[in-house]
Amino acid sequence: MKLISVAVVLFAIVIGLVAWTPHSSAAQDKSAQIERGKYLVEQVARCADCHSPVNEKGEPIPGKELRGGALMFKPITPMPMWADKAPNIAGLRGWDEDAAIKFLMTGIAYNDLPARPPMPPYHLSRQDAEAIVAFLKSLSPVEK
Ligand code: HEC
Repeated sequence: MKLISVAVVLFAIVIGLVAWTPHSSAAQDKSAQIERGKYLVEQVARCADCHSPVNEKGEPIPGKELRGGALMFKPITPMPMWADKAPNIAGLRGWDEDAAIKFLMTGIAYNDLPARPPMPPYHLSRQDAEAIVAFLKSLSPVEK
């Protein structure tokens, strides 16, 4: 009799663990994905070189990273399509996830047009595009 109740308790523990594990690993996957997106944004694609506002010395303003600003450089030959400001991309306001992922995989925005230069037409892998979008969506559009 005792053995049976021990077996029942063990069984319940095993079932409990099996039911619980997928949740915790989904949360871990999400935070690992956001971490990877942060690395790609900050160290690989360096989105902040254009998307962060700078002070009069050209230094990024702490706390305002990726919140958009005037570009520090111009083309040496006139380019009619040149954009002289980079928008706020923290939080990716106005972009749904799928459109933003497609934009980073193809260079084509939600209006079926490419962004103006100097925004690079990125052709990232789905995995990298999803990680970057997860990271940007995790940010608040205004500095805290
Ligand atoms: C060389 C400068 C530069 C770099 C690097 C850059 N961007 Fe941009 N980005 C721009 C400019 C300029 C625009 C505005 C283009 C326009 O007005 O059509 C823009 C537009 C965008 C937009 C559209 C925003 C909107 O609301 O319309 C997104 C999203 C974006 N960039 C994301 C990124 C991400 C993510 C990275 C890094 C992976 C990145 N950009 C790197 C210059 C840059």
